[in-house]
Amino acid sequence: MRVMATIAGVREAVRAARCEGRRVGFVPTMGALHAGHVSLIARSAAECGATVVSIFVNPSQFNQAEDFERYPRTLERDLEACRAAGASIVFAPSNEEMYPRPLSTWIEPGAVAEHLCGRFRPGHFRGVATVVAKLFHAVEADRAYFGEKDAQQLAVIQTMVAELNMAVEIVPVATVREAGGLAMSSRNERLGAEERRAATVLYAGLRAALARLEAGEREARVVREAALETVGREPSVRVEYLEVADAGTMQPVERVSGPVRVLVAAWLGGVRLIDNVGFVPG
Ligand code: PAF
Repeated sequence: MRVMATIAGVREAVRAARCEGRRVGFVPTMGALHAGHVSLIARSAAECGATVVSIFVNPSQFNQAEDFERYPRTLERDLEACRAAGASIVFAPSNEEMYPRPLSTWIEPGAVAEHLCGRFRPGHFRGVATVVAKLFHAVEADRAYFGEKDAQQLAVIQTMVAELNMAVEIVPVATVREAGGLAMSSRNERLGAEERRAATVLYAGLRAALARLEAGEREARVVREAALETVGREPSVRVEYLEVADAGTMQPVERVSGPVRVLVAAWLGGVRLIDNVGFVPG
């Protein structure tokens, strides 16, 4: 496994891999790798002859400087995880390499970024879309793997790739969960033991919503209420939003008539967690 810090270096290595006839998979990350990232890397390694993992904590997607500074940075451990999961190249650029000067060109996602996290984290998806576009241009991979845990991020990227004719195939990968159901996230490390236990109520709430949908309920209000009632059993969990939204456009729906996601964001103390489940009516 090679570790590279420059765009020129990673681009050359990827072009060499492609000249050897290898398909190139890409897993963009901000490091602090956990089992969810490992599943993305392993999936890419199983499907592609070369897998590039980027590790870059992107300042332009954080709304609060403090959140950016407190984001865990665990490069040595991450490199081990990449190696074990089958990565061929790790691209770990500096901030100067990615942003040598303040940007004057940005990717501004439209309606797909308007609700849900987009409403509570202004500018977040603009930062995500822009850095992902920059990474796509640096790496020039055939496929890029993204976790379904960040469902709105995935929809923003799928929309960007389709609308801007980017030549990369986006591969969604199912959420990996801890034994109690909590979705794997780099932020889980900041939870105390009691908070970690309480956080499992989020997935329990989503499952309650899913049970209603599977039983034939199509009113989003009723589905939301079922989830909120379950989540409400843990008073330490402060729900930021809990919505039923169209799976592709991320617009909240009143009635379920096509593929949807039930999405939640909630705070436990100072830690913000997100999770979601998908449902496709028969
Ligand atoms: O999901 C993440 O870790 C980040 O948002 C991403 C896609 C690597 C962009 O910085």
